[in-house]
Amino acid sequence: MSSPVWTAELVTADVELTRATAAEIGRTLAAGDVLLLTGELGAGKTTFTQGLGVGLGVRSGIISPTFVLVRIHPSITDGPQLVHVDAYRLTSAGEIDDLDLESTLDTSVTVIEWGEGRAEHLSPNRLHIHLARPTGGELPDFEADDDEPRTLQIEAFGPRWEGQRIQLG
Ligand SMILES: Nc1ncnc2c1ncn2[C@@H]1O[C@H](COP(=O)(O)OP(=O)(O)O)[C@@H](O)[C@H]1O
Ligand SMILES: [Mg+2]
Repeated sequence: MSSPVWTAELVTADVELTRATAAEIGRTLAAGDVLLLTGELGAGKTTFTQGLGVGLGVRSGIISPTFVLVRIHPSITDGPQLVHVDAYRLTSAGEIDDLDLESTLDTSVTVIEWGEGRAEHLSPNRLHIHLARPTGGELPDFEADDDEPRTLQIEAFGPRWEGQRIQLG
């Protein structure tokens, strides 16, 4: 695989900072952008997507698309819609293709939880975002809802991100 054009890393101390960081990223996104989110169950992929939705200005109500696989959140401004995918059960590129994400790609921001290793073929221009507990540890646990720090690692791929580095914080 090609190497990223830039990388960034930061730590968010709590849920609201994860959402705020994602909102900042969301404000820089445009139709055609693809984000692949990784991190174990409970790492914060859906929480991050909620923040993205705020920054993009799409209709709220982002929840885990685990059972539906794909949820579309229309813009409430004049921006792109958000296509939110959970690829946890989709283990091959072929199964991703069955979702027909190509049909909405150009007019949407497409965010795929568990997308890394499965959805790179959708676009050469991608942000890969990896969320993790800095302390590691097993998930899920009984305190999953308590605020804890998360490490966010961002890797940008493709010419779309050359010369556009996202300023965070
Ligand atoms: N700093 C943080 N950032 C994001 N989520 C956090 C943070 N601290 C604690 N949490 C909790 O971790 C959980 C993340 O859940 P979720 O976003 O659904 O994860 P995923 O989609 O990766 O399975 C939530 O219960 C959230 O309240
Ligand atoms: Mg999730």
